[in-house]
Amino acid sequence: MNRTVIVSNRLPPLDRDEASAGGLAVGISAALAESGGTWLGWDGQIDCEPDHGSRIQQITPYTIIALALSADEHAGYYIGFANRALWPVLHGRADLVRFDPADFALYRAVNARFAKQLAAAAHDADAVWVHDYHFLCMGEALRRLGIRLPIGFFLHVPFPPADTLAALPCHRNLIGALSAFDLVGFQSENDLRNFCDYATRYLGAAVSEDGTVAVGGRQFSVGVFPIGIDTRGFSALAESKEAGVLRERLRGCFEGQLGVIGVDRLDYTKGLERRFRAFERLLETSPAHFRQAFLLQIAAPSRMAIPEYAALRDRLEALSGRINARHARIDWTPVRYINRTFSQTRLAALYRLSRVGLVTPLRDGMNLVAKEFVAAQSANDPGVLVLSRYAGAAERLSGALLVNPYDIDGMAAAMRRALVMCLEERRERYREMISELRDHDVHGWREDYLRALVAAHRRSLAGGRQ
Ligand code: F6P
Repeated sequence: MNRTVIVSNRLPPLDRDEASAGGLAVGISAALAESGGTWLGWDGQIDCEPDHGSRIQQITPYTIIALALSADEHAGYYIGFANRALWPVLHGRADLVRFDPADFALYRAVNARFAKQLAAAAHDADAVWVHDYHFLCMGEALRRLGIRLPIGFFLHVPFPPADTLAALPCHRNLIGALSAFDLVGFQSENDLRNFCDYATRYLGAAVSEDGTVAVGGRQFSVGVFPIGIDTRGFSALAESKEAGVLRERLRGCFEGQLGVIGVDRLDYTKGLERRFRAFERLLETSPAHFRQAFLLQIAAPSRMAIPEYAALRDRLEALSGRINARHARIDWTPVRYINRTFSQTRLAALYRLSRVGLVTPLRDGMNLVAKEFVAAQSANDPGVLVLSRYAGAAERLSGALLVNPYDIDGMAAAMRRALVMCLEERRERYREMISELRDHDVHGWREDYLRALVAAHRRSLAGGRQ
């Protein structure tokens, strides 16, 4: 089997417990836990030195190559293009796109610089696996450097409808660059459909039934590879002694009430304001749950240099304060809103103590929190997952209560249904979901993707790739 060289913007957490709220790095590190390989990415530092060095660390089982960004690169590549232009458009928010050609130039330059480092680290029999929207131009940069290895790309976030994407002025250059990869993978069937529609209408590509895309004399493959979690590992974490001790300590905070839990990065795509309003609607329309249930929302601060994120934080603080001021009693706080990162062990304990997992993004590539919530439940007395139909996870988690995250009344009704659901139905739904999560975990995801990448590479060579 080929050794894998991974590229992603974020590097893996040094300690599993450092990570919270799902996320790409946690997913990939679980995938590489057995196989090992080399992982190249941003070390999270902003370095003033113009000559960028790399730090190499051996963190069994992988070698990490950590690169710093200069202040200009951080502002143009990460904040500017990746998170103020690409992130909103990929999540269907063309209204929030702030496009600056200088940011796009820095984005390409960082792709090229990381590609150079990667080319120096790659061996003959390696397969290269590029992750997420930060590196859409990485395949092209690697091919320009003469790299002939299998190079795959996986998009962790959604691929939007073609006309939405076309609102981004540089869309043709950017998406056309994907043809340098051998395999482009998506989270959901919906993403793949949107991509094929885009490629046909805007790039003049020919897309075959078998997932081969021919465009501008190049040929590559596309497919759906929904990312999973380390299901057995996360269940074991929730059952561990350490999580058990935490659970006993936290149980007192639940005071016999039913907990509804949400865990997200603080991001406008996560639907947090509507979620708060839906919980308030539940309190207003369901007296039985007044004083008997509470919403625990953990929202880890994220990308605070971007005005939309800072403004969202302010609005959520005001909204949770208003709901509590209006409905709280001396001995009961309906919304417990926390802006902090929690360890995986603490999250696993909290998921297991909660009756309802509330995952209601307006748009999400997959959403691993939904999967972790299910994996943390006990088979005897499981909680219920209320899940947005616009999260990639909804395509296969048929045991969840699916909701429209724009429909406040509908979400309140789903929460009510989840809170009163009988044990038999909760067990039945849990069984359905946990068997899906065990059958399609992160290890299978990695194997399926890498197998498909090798096959796609053979096909692109046969199709004439230089
Ligand atoms: O899942 C999408 C993603 O952008 C990942 O690439 C990233 O690890 C995560 O969200 C957190 O975002 P950021 O790296 O910008 O803090």
